[in-house]
Amino acid sequence: MSAKARRILTLNAISRKGLARLPEGYVVGNDVAEPDGILVRSHAMHDMAIPASVMAIGRAGAGTNNIPVKQMSERGIVVFNAPGANANAVKELVIAGMIMGARNLAPALCFVSRLEGDAERLHEQVEAGKKQYVGHELAGRTLGVVGLGAIGSMVADAAIRLGMHVIGFDPEITVEAAWRLPAQVKKAASVEDLVKHADFVSLHVPFLPATRDLINAERINLMRKGTVLLNFARDGIVSEPAVLDGLNQGRLHAYVCDFPSNLLRQHPRFVALPHLGASTEEAEENCAVMVAEQLADYLENGNILNS
Ligand code: MLT
Repeated sequence: MSAKARRILTLNAISRKGLARLPEGYVVGNDVAEPDGILVRSHAMHDMAIPASVMAIGRAGAGTNNIPVKQMSERGIVVFNAPGANANAVKELVIAGMIMGARNLAPALCFVSRLEGDAERLHEQVEAGKKQYVGHELAGRTLGVVGLGAIGSMVADAAIRLGMHVIGFDPEITVEAAWRLPAQVKKAASVEDLVKHADFVSLHVPFLPATRDLINAERINLMRKGTVLLNFARDGIVSEPAVLDGLNQGRLHAYVCDFPSNLLRQHPRFVALPHLGASTEEAEENCAVMVAEQLADYLENGNILNS
């Protein structure tokens, strides 16, 4: 039994394996009053009144942009996250996204769902689809990875194993991430340098004032004709009007991302998912375990990791 039975408010469903890492006696739930800590996934906390009793917030994921981190720090509330805990899940979906873009899977699936007629008519339409949706392979193509943290470096590694060439750019790469990076990854001098030399561009940076519209019209115009752009990070890092122009002009073959867009939704080469990058049972457990342990360690012992 802990010295004081702490009270933890959960703002999203948090994996049971994670909650099991909290010390015995902790009171946990989505209607806990006067909480000592909060566990959250993607619930938007910017307009929320945070109770005065709160000492720490644990974000079961990597990005903390759903939390008013600066205001929390000013109030002395520690915010933890779970860097790397869902990186494998995101990496796998990025590879799926590259294949979706390169093999025209989204428009091909729509095409098949609209087919009708007898066996002979279906056969004719399948023959037409085979011609219409010819794609290309990943092997031998170049992937540009912007942001070489936990996710970016895993994406780079997986792409190399698929026979791709990889170039990377990260002005703030950590020593740990640099060690993790496969030696075959060539370093680009800038985002401009990277987009000029890639067939696929995948973004793995947080959403900050400095990364808003990181991919804009100027950078899209520098891309190779037919580039597949992938965004499994945050929607604000890509200018949607610039992407629409890029798709219409053929500079972009496809924009594959993990967010909806009212502007792009009708475009046949816009592929959007409902923020599924970290939505695997394994990633949800890993994130919940990491933040629950950090939160408890802070509340029990005052230790601070990943804040
Ligand atoms: C992240 O930042 O790691 C993801 O947004 C996690 C999530 O989907 O909750």
